[in-house]
Amino acid sequence: MPILALLCLFSTVVHLLSSLFITTAKTPPPYTPTDYFLLNCGSSSNSTSLDGRHWEGDSNSKFSPCDIQSTSSSSNTSKLDPSLSQVPYMTARIFDRQSKFTYSFPVSPGPKFLRLYFYPTSCANYDKTKSFFAVTANDFTLLSNFSASLSITSSTNPSTAYLVKEFIVDVQKNQNLNVTFIPSPSSYAFINGIEVVSMPSKLYISNQDMSPATFVNAYDSPFYINNPFAFETLYRLNVGGKDVSNINDTGMFRSWSQDEDYIFGKAFGTMPHRSNATIKYTEDTPPYTAPEIIYTSSRTMGKNPNINLQYNLTWIFPVDVGFLYLVRLHFCETQLEVTLENQRVFRIFIYNQTAEEKMDVIHWSGGNGSPVYRDYIVLVPGKSQAKQGLWLALQPNRDVIPKPDYADAILNGVEIFKLNQSDGNLAGPNPEPPMVCLSSTSLEPEKKTTPKNNLSPIMIAVGIPIGALVAILIYICLLVHDHCRRKRAHEQGTGLSKSSLVPFSKMQRLIDKNILTLPLEHCRYFSIVEIKAATDNFNHRLVIGAGGVGNMYKGYIDGGSTAVAIKQMKPSSKQGTCQFWTEINMLSMLRHVNLVALIGYCDDQDEMILVYEYVARGTLRSHLYGTVNSALSWKQRVQICIDTAHGLNYLHTSANDPIIHSNVKSTNILLDERMLAKVSHFGLSKLDSIRMSKIHFNNVVTGGFGYVDPEYYRMQKLTEKSDVYSFGVVLFEVLCARPALMPSLPKEQVNLAQWARKCYNDGNLDQIIDPCLRGEIESECLHKFGEIADSCTRDHGIERPTMRDVVEALQFALQIQENAEKNINNRHMVETKENVPTQHITVTQLHAQLS
Ligand SMILES: *[C@@H]1O[C@H](CO)[C@@H](O)[C@H](O)[C@H]1NC(C)=O
Ligand SMILES: *[C@@H]1O[C@H](CO)[C@@H](O)[C@H](O)[C@H]1NC(C)=O
Ligand SMILES: *[C@@H]1O[C@H](CO)[C@@H](O)[C@H](O)[C@H]1NC(C)=O
Ligand SMILES: *[C@@H]1O[C@H](CO)[C@@H](O)[C@H](O)[C@H]1NC(C)=O
Ligand SMILES: *[C@@H]1O[C@H](CO)[C@@H](O)[C@H](O)[C@H]1NC(C)=O
Ligand SMILES: *[C@@H]1O[C@H](CO)[C@@H](O)[C@H](O)[C@H]1NC(C)=O
Ligand SMILES: *[C@@H]1O[C@H](CO)[C@@H](O)[C@H](O)[C@H]1NC(C)=O
Ligand SMILES: *[C@@H]1O[C@H](CO)[C@@H](O)[C@H](O)[C@H]1NC(C)=O
Ligand SMILES: *[C@@H]1O[C@H](CO)[C@@H](O)[C@H](O)[C@H]1NC(C)=O
Repeated sequence: MPILALLCLFSTVVHLLSSLFITTAKTPPPYTPTDYFLLNCGSSSNSTSLDGRHWEGDSNSKFSPCDIQSTSSSSNTSKLDPSLSQVPYMTARIFDRQSKFTYSFPVSPGPKFLRLYFYPTSCANYDKTKSFFAVTANDFTLLSNFSASLSITSSTNPSTAYLVKEFIVDVQKNQNLNVTFIPSPSSYAFINGIEVVSMPSKLYISNQDMSPATFVNAYDSPFYINNPFAFETLYRLNVGGKDVSNINDTGMFRSWSQDEDYIFGKAFGTMPHRSNATIKYTEDTPPYTAPEIIYTSSRTMGKNPNINLQYNLTWIFPVDVGFLYLVRLHFCETQLEVTLENQRVFRIFIYNQTAEEKMDVIHWSGGNGSPVYRDYIVLVPGKSQAKQGLWLALQPNRDVIPKPDYADAILNGVEIFKLNQSDGNLAGPNPEPPMVCLSSTSLEPEKKTTPKNNLSPIMIAVGIPIGALVAILIYICLLVHDHCRRKRAHEQGTGLSKSSLVPFSKMQRLIDKNILTLPLEHCRYFSIVEIKAATDNFNHRLVIGAGGVGNMYKGYIDGGSTAVAIKQMKPSSKQGTCQFWTEINMLSMLRHVNLVALIGYCDDQDEMILVYEYVARGTLRSHLYGTVNSALSWKQRVQICIDTAHGLNYLHTSANDPIIHSNVKSTNILLDERMLAKVSHFGLSKLDSIRMSKIHFNNVVTGGFGYVDPEYYRMQKLTEKSDVYSFGVVLFEVLCARPALMPSLPKEQVNLAQWARKCYNDGNLDQIIDPCLRGEIESECLHKFGEIADSCTRDHGIERPTMRDVVEALQFALQIQENAEKNINNRHMVETKENVPTQHITVTQLHAQLS
């Protein structure tokens, strides 16, 4: 009887509410979905939810497989949480037959919202703690070994008994959207409701014609998504405003929550609200982007500039490590006093990196009342179990000239999405691990007693020490946690500090200059089993290089489709292993077309294995002295030097602290199939301090080319200029190639740089050119080239140019050569010595000498 009464009450409420919505919905939403399905799982009839939407029962639905009755069962509960809508939470579809179960939705191609509704209590006759399952959608793994009830208990708000997971799945042409449930062994899966909604195809995806998202902590590059993708929506907040329910969205039924729970400390700022402001949507920010209510409410820092300058307006979002995130920030100036550019300018930090140095909403949006959004991509590295805090912080920028009118910052909305990993996985660990130490401090919503409209100086006075204390506590927690974990430092992940955002124009230049076109593939983890499979169990026939630190193998990953170079380190000393992985983690974020990319690593069973991009044509050295490879032309050689210089310049300048290669030589420059040069073995300097002392020793004893900066011997310190020196030696090597030409000095005194510089300064450079280049080099080009090599190899680092200067000078040298070749009649080619003895020493001897 009471159930019946309850049901009656519900239906009245439903009717009341739905009529209410119909009358209040004056104008249709800006977007009307082309695909829109609501499936009430475990039910055989159509019904209406509290929010007035019509759901179809799945028992007889065309989206369900025809054998639904024999492959699954349904369940319903009478113990529905009174705050919940009967539909879709009252009934559930249960998959307990240990087989896959697929719903198939015929949809148009393009990104679709997929919302999964879970209410564990609805599985009346099952133990809700025993449900573990995976959910896939087409080729993407959305959830794996997932337990809805564990996720609910470990969530920041355990009082809610249900869970809605929102994904965006990119459906390809001629595909259905197939949603598959796979129970874990001896477990069961369940689902209460499935919602599929289409969206404007360009809503979240930057393609080539739009201004792309910016990488915050990886490298100078715009971020495009060209491959199929899947996202999971983690946060969607109406900053400074109230919850906005799905039916008040722009037609896509997204829910927006208030942001207070995520604010760090007690610095809530103020929440200016102009509900009567007219929001003027633009071509770049069309009306479907976000509802007006997101833009009419905002959070700013406060009225007092002195207070504002002392704190950052900060939010913290717990996220899984090992994923890329898309952070979309929504802005709109609606306050009447801000109407011009340069009135309110602020910095945006994401994950403690500068994402935007000068955010000026009016500048980007075009005026007061016009909304705008900015997209950032951030990598949260690591592979630990714990969640990490993704910090978002705003800080007034007073360093702009002329000084902006207000020392303040503003934010209207935030959306954060997790991006699928390269294998299509989106699933994090389950149960969702608590965030390291933070969960009990800052993440608990601070219940505010004082009105937060004005951040009083007293609050600041109290807030700052408390904030500092909390920060210190967190820091200590992290330290202790780090210490306790046997796992290595790289799991914590140290981001490369990129100092600032690259504006679009600069990005375009970077693209034009071919500096960055590689897709980001953050460091991938390989198990020892995968490595053994890739190298045919370290088959010696696959060895492509052997060295003091270990062997390099050629291998194949991804089912044989991708060739890689696999370096297996000798675990010579356990000491420094931690530092090794920290360094590797940092290196994995370096991406440049002229650097050999680090693809992944393996630290299984105490192995130290690095997996690099495979560069097909091998070392520059083998092309200079080898008998197998045909000789490189002069222009090819100069271009290789330019490429190499670009790579080194990137190492020296892309991070806050320059990365010193420390071992630049022709064996560490590799050529790909298009003869593009890539620098390898970079950044291992810190681990190589032992190696350096060996080099010192070896260099003197075996008479290598003397790549090592003479200043290093004096100062015992490597700088960027040490790399410039070594690069200068490579330049001479590229020009002279065959050391057979070098006078017969006693071996230990052979020093290419000294000898070649002397020739250059005596005006005899033409005498020592590689005979293969006979008649190819324009004399002016030769002079320029000699000048560059000479300046790079000066004795004192301070007198040597930077790599950036070198790049420009070499480009100029190449230009001279090209101009001369166009102008055939006016050529002054350098003839090389005719009577050169080509090969005094054998290649084997050379190898022995050079390594
Ligand atoms: C339920 O709704 C679907 C789609 O709106 C419709 O095709 C179907 O006939 C309905 N079923 C019943 C029993 O009303
Ligand atoms: C609940 O289940 C019973 C029997 O399985 C069924 O008769 C009843 O209609 C269900 N109630 C709802 C609301 O689906
Ligand atoms: C699934 O998660 C549960 C609970 O954390 C764990 O006990 C179980 O081993 C996991 N199963 C798999 C296959 O990972
Ligand atoms: C979806 O499932 C249907 C049948 O279950 C199958 O025919 C189709 O190939 C699947 N599509 C995709 C993209 O997996
Ligand atoms: C939707 O927005 C209207 C107008 O702002 C408001 O009155 C209504 O309560 C909102 N509906 C829900 C379910 O939040
Ligand atoms: C909006 O409301 C404010 C007071 O709340 C009033 O001063 C202002 O004139 C109104 N603006 C418009 C365009 O109605
Ligand atoms: C604001 O955040 C930046 C970046 O994380 C940090 O360098 C700065 O110290 C912070 N300022 C304050 C006052 O906390
Ligand atoms: C960001 O900065 C805060 C405080 O300055 C610190 O607690 C947090 O660990 C930092 N996060 C990262 C990823 O470095
Ligand atoms: C997402 O998955 C697809 C297909 O597996 C893959 O091609 C794409 O590179 C992945 N995205 C990222 C950012 O790794």
